[in-house]
Amino acid sequence: MKILTVGGGGREHAIITALSRSPKVDKLYAAPGNGGISALAECFPVKATDIDGIVDLAKKLNPDYVFVAPDDPLVMGMVDKLNEAGFKTFGPKANAAILEGSKVFSKALMKKYGIPTAEYETFTDADKAIAYIKEKNSYPAVIKCDGLALGKGVIIAENEEQAENAVKSMLLDGKFGKSGSEIVIEEYLTGPEVTVLVFTDGKTVKPMISSMDHKRAYDDDKGLNTGGMGTVAPNPLYTHEKQAECMEKIFLPTIRAMEKEGRPFKGCLYFGLMLTPKGAKVIEYNCRFGDPETQVVLPLLETDLVDIIEAVWEEKLDSLDVKWSGDSCACVVMASGGYPEKYDTGKEIGGLDEKGQCPAHKDVCVYHAGTKLENGKYLTSGGRVLGVTATDETLQGALDKAYAAVKDISFEKAHYRTDIGKRALAKA
Ligand code: AMP
Ligand code: GLY
Repeated sequence: MKILTVGGGGREHAIITALSRSPKVDKLYAAPGNGGISALAECFPVKATDIDGIVDLAKKLNPDYVFVAPDDPLVMGMVDKLNEAGFKTFGPKANAAILEGSKVFSKALMKKYGIPTAEYETFTDADKAIAYIKEKNSYPAVIKCDGLALGKGVIIAENEEQAENAVKSMLLDGKFGKSGSEIVIEEYLTGPEVTVLVFTDGKTVKPMISSMDHKRAYDDDKGLNTGGMGTVAPNPLYTHEKQAECMEKIFLPTIRAMEKEGRPFKGCLYFGLMLTPKGAKVIEYNCRFGDPETQVVLPLLETDLVDIIEAVWEEKLDSLDVKWSGDSCACVVMASGGYPEKYDTGKEIGGLDEKGQCPAHKDVCVYHAGTKLENGKYLTSGGRVLGVTATDETLQGALDKAYAAVKDISFEKAHYRTDIGKRALAKA
């Protein structure tokens, strides 16, 4: 088989690594890919958001499947366009990717079908939104852009002034463009967060191993929100009871609701959950694999990912047994100093072999997020640069292996958190 993967981050490197383990795969392609991905897949310089460019590339390469990994092309309808051109795909069509593309849509869906989530109201008028905030007079207040905003469209306001500024930045100043022309104001929830990714063919749901992201830039959850500075799997807070509760009250009702609405969801659905004192609630849906959650979840997958892709496409997921290893996995993100704000790129990365890996370290896989390969050297090319990932029988063992490898990798102003997995270990 030939498989084209759309995207070029650490998540895509993890997906392509899982695909490369399949005996069914002869050839892997990526667009645009990155330095590390180029060791496994032939990369083509077509942007992940260039729908016509990707369709043209697929016509040239004629892959058996196109795996569309990032949110923007999914929300923009890349899967629809590829299917119209006769290609088989992994990923939801636009009418289902809207679960991530519009928070106004997803909140209304949850309300209609009784899926537990924070109470909310939606607004397009700034005066009405501010009046509502003043009337509620409850802080923190959670203010969210309707549309995609690179993970930056959620503001947790600690007081009235911050809340008012957030509303104005979205509805009046257009700081988030069209994504912020409608907003959701919702109840502030408390409790630990859990990510659960599920495979679904629109009818059957097969949950993956749970994980825990670390979103803030610095240790002890200080600093700005990032795309994710590290992950561990499984998440020890997600017990068997929680899993059963989520399956019954959240996962299956969501998939059935989408089917009923004429928007069957096929692909990987990301549930961002909060385990509140009143039960698990949905914080957000994403229409794709998480980044860097994928980096710790897919190494634990024992079933051939290609078999899953085929079962999802053929809507036969019910007849496939999806198996997981009982090990733990940890990913430590090495970022460019300054990320998620201004940072430099083009720094040479030391400690990697010609394949971009660290072979002296057993059970370690280095997923490349923002690297490029130039004249045989790996250079930094993004905010998040590498996801140094290790598996072990225990979470402590996985973390020790990942951090040992991190110490042998270097680039100027490299930054990473030193406390990935600390909270998970305390609960384990
Ligand atoms: P989101 O992009 O919707 O996942 O939001 C980003 C982060 O903001 C989440 O991971 C939570 O930590 C936090 N957050 C979002 N919504 C709420 C809420 N209703 N209550 C408390 N924290 C929230
Ligand atoms: N790690 C969070 C996300 O993928 O949205």
